[in-house]
Amino acid sequence: MILVTGGTGLVGAHLLLKLAQEETELRATFRPESNLARVKKLFITQHPKGESLFDNIAWVEADLNDIPKLEKALKGVSRVYHCAALISFDPRDFWELKRVNVRGTANLVNLCIACGIEKLCYVSSIAALSNNTAEEQITEETESQGASNVYGLSKYLAELEVWRGAQEGVPVVVVNPGVIIGTGFWEQGSGSLFKLGAKGLKFYPPGGTGFVTVKDVVDVMVGLMNSRITGERYILVERNLTYKDFFHYLAEGFNLKKPRKELKNWQLEMLWRLDWLRSVLGSKGRKLTRDGVKSLQSPVYYSNDKIKNALSYQFETIPEAISRCCQAYIEDTGFNS
Ligand SMILES: NC(=O)c1ccc[n+]([C@@H]2O[C@H](COP(=O)([O-])OP(=O)(O)OC[C@H]3O[C@@H](n4cnc5c(N)ncnc54)[C@H](OP(=O)(O)O)[C@@H]3O)[C@@H](O)[C@H]2O)c1
Repeated sequence: MILVTGGTGLVGAHLLLKLAQEETELRATFRPESNLARVKKLFITQHPKGESLFDNIAWVEADLNDIPKLEKALKGVSRVYHCAALISFDPRDFWELKRVNVRGTANLVNLCIACGIEKLCYVSSIAALSNNTAEEQITEETESQGASNVYGLSKYLAELEVWRGAQEGVPVVVVNPGVIIGTGFWEQGSGSLFKLGAKGLKFYPPGGTGFVTVKDVVDVMVGLMNSRITGERYILVERNLTYKDFFHYLAEGFNLKKPRKELKNWQLEMLWRLDWLRSVLGSKGRKLTRDGVKSLQSPVYYSNDKIKNALSYQFETIPEAISRCCQAYIEDTGFNS
């Protein structure tokens, strides 16, 4: 039996769709507020037998911090894919990020140790790695210069919990994906970048980062779980793109005008301060923080050599994936430029 946490999110749902086609016994966690209908819709739109594949999944209600329910979810399970996490860059969410991502992962790891799980795959992030903006590429071995934001810190601390589990006898593999491009989850995480792009942007920030498709993330996760590899982590990035190029691809996909003006550093500095003021006066969540601006100002480059060598893996190309996702967004939302 395989357990997937966060099965109602972008990565978890695409992973479930892949695993369901391999006819394995599958269990996935959800919460009372989870949108199961969205996962079912993804299955139906992506596979001719999507409805029956979806019906074969045993859904169990379990929050990462509800230990009795989590323990129940792990009963009889041999392999665990841990995809559940809170994604937020708002400093005011720091304690919630620690509660969900760090304590929640610690709870799961403790239960994996107690249940003698055969193998655990943890979805970390490039945000948990060094944010060194020097010209050389960041690898799995690059020494961290400290987390660039609250989310990155929570993912780094959660990874430490997973490595503790490895020390205590659980075979683990960790993946550190870049920004994940995939369909069906437009209101949250990286999916909301498509919603932003569909509005038509005039400006782009100066930096850049690594991108990867959700198909590649789940293929590699399953590949690593089926391999003899343990105790390793892998950066998952097809290519490093400037934000200028990324937003240009989005504009092409939506048949909109490309953003022409690069935001200057002083403009970004002014914008995060205005955002802070807006959040204080209106008690609204932060959209742009000082840390967020820092990571938008300079490009960061990531190397994918380690995973390419380990699994002889060929990634999907990001520009084509962006174009496909824009089409899917248009079909899903009825958006028409
Ligand atoms: N998206 C990216 O660009 C990206 C990049 C690098 C790494 N990652 C990592 O990849 C993993 C999956 O991300 P994603 O994009 O799929 O995120 P997502 O779409 O926001 O999904 C998050 C999932 O976690 C679940 N979850 C949140 N809090 C939980 C809690 N307290 N207990 C149990 N489940 C909880 C959510 O359940 P509900 O449906 O109930 O909310 C949802 O299923 C995360 O670990 C993330 O850090 C994502």
